[in-house]
Amino acid sequence: MVPQIPSFAKNMWVETRDYVFITVALLMYALALTLFMLPHQITTGGISGVSAIVFYATGIEVQYTYLAINIVFLIAAVIELGWKFCFKTIYAVLMLTFILWLLQRIIESQPGVNPGELPKIMPDRFMSCVIGGILEGVALAICFLNNGSTGGTDIIAAIVNKYKNLSLGNVILICDLIIISSSYFVFQDQPDCWERVICGLVVLSISAVTLDYVMNRQRQSVQFMIFSRNYSKIADAINQTGRGVTVLDGQGWYTKTERKVIVCLAKRRESINIFRMIKSIDPYCFVSMANAQGVYGEGFDKIKAKSNSDKRTVVFATNNKHKLEEVRQILGDAFEVRSLEDIGCNRDIPETGNTFRENALIKAQFVKTYYGFDCFADDSGLECDALGGAPGVHSARYAGEGHDSEANMQKLLAALDGNTNRKADFRTVIAFVTNDAVHYFEGTVEGKILVERRGEGGFGYDPIFLPDGYDQTFAEMSQEQKNAISHRARAVAKFADFLIGQLEKKK
Ligand code: IMP
Repeated sequence: MVPQIPSFAKNMWVETRDYVFITVALLMYALALTLFMLPHQITTGGISGVSAIVFYATGIEVQYTYLAINIVFLIAAVIELGWKFCFKTIYAVLMLTFILWLLQRIIESQPGVNPGELPKIMPDRFMSCVIGGILEGVALAICFLNNGSTGGTDIIAAIVNKYKNLSLGNVILICDLIIISSSYFVFQDQPDCWERVICGLVVLSISAVTLDYVMNRQRQSVQFMIFSRNYSKIADAINQTGRGVTVLDGQGWYTKTERKVIVCLAKRRESINIFRMIKSIDPYCFVSMANAQGVYGEGFDKIKAKSNSDKRTVVFATNNKHKLEEVRQILGDAFEVRSLEDIGCNRDIPETGNTFRENALIKAQFVKTYYGFDCFADDSGLECDALGGAPGVHSARYAGEGHDSEANMQKLLAALDGNTNRKADFRTVIAFVTNDAVHYFEGTVEGKILVERRGEGGFGYDPIFLPDGYDQTFAEMSQEQKNAISHRARAVAKFADFLIGQLEKKK
């Protein structure tokens, strides 16, 4: 089946789910703040910490300071990081401001509560720290797991991270330590000044540990080893859930018989389902499940370690060695161009499009969807004026499936026999698919179709194609001469300009 580009509806669903979870997380965060931190005058990290300090010193409600500081940061973020980073952050800032405001109004409306007062629902300060810290950690984890952020120090961290090689976690930690320690100056006249500062640090530690715990649990992967006579049914059943499996050859040493072992790396949350499937197919199956410290690759985490070279990796969806070499030569050293074989893809990607664009996109999108790499693919062909653009997308199979270039040329020469309009062009379209967009690059070379073949080199229709302004056919030219003017070279040159331009922008 032809791979489909992720549909609009699917993206909408993922986006909506993100916003719902981020909203729940913000509600938890606001509850932690208004029920546990603010009543005990505990300072947390982040901009909410700064806002709390302002509240303790002046009585200005937290949401106003929080909103004001974040507006400044967001303007800086839009300039430095672009709109894409900011969209969910803007939503989170506005939503948290609103929820904080609403919660305080609800609390104030309770009997016996004065305006501006936040009663202690948990009289013990330390217990408040523990509960508040846990709530805050869970809330932040849910927010991050759904691609959100609560603004503030996250923005500082993202901007610093753009210029300096400091991890986001370290930047946030440094900011939080400074914010919490500075609450000392507000409380210095109070007898329990140090206790308050230390409570702030306790909340910071508890929320950080909780944050890591929740995030790691969600991401935790497990490795199954399944030994069963019914291995093929089990492997099929797991495969059908979208999880890949590998079947290894083994030997039962006692019986000396051949055994198959299924290895499957999955997310912990999928394990119950996998156990159920195994049990329903083979209740006596022998199976082990172990925690996997880290799983990297398709469907799991990305390898974060920087490769020794700073080259950008792009996949060229082809296994044609000539094309690969030609493209590598043009792109030069700044890029690592991998072939389908290099990424372990040995599937035959069907070219079912009606145009060069469609075919190129199908191939590049296939790799992006199933292998995750930024990928480009090309589709080329010969277009004859007198034949209304034929053979066009059908150039490779013009004489029918299984026929070679010789048969294709024969059919073309027969179709043009006696025709004085011999104008033709070779056209290449490259589609480049990245996370954000699809880009197209086109190259053409005009010429004419001769009445008989000339030259031994090249491939395809080269012996009958004479490019305008030259007296040698593509098949009479050396590889270098052809590469200097070919349709593919022209399209690749445009693509290379684009990639190099992107590289320069990043510097
Ligand atoms: P592809 O999309 O690059 O695989 O090209 C499809 C078909 O177009 C090839 O099988 C050839 O028949 C023809 N073709 C594309 N580029 C050239 C070329 O540079 N010379 C000759 N034939 C070409």
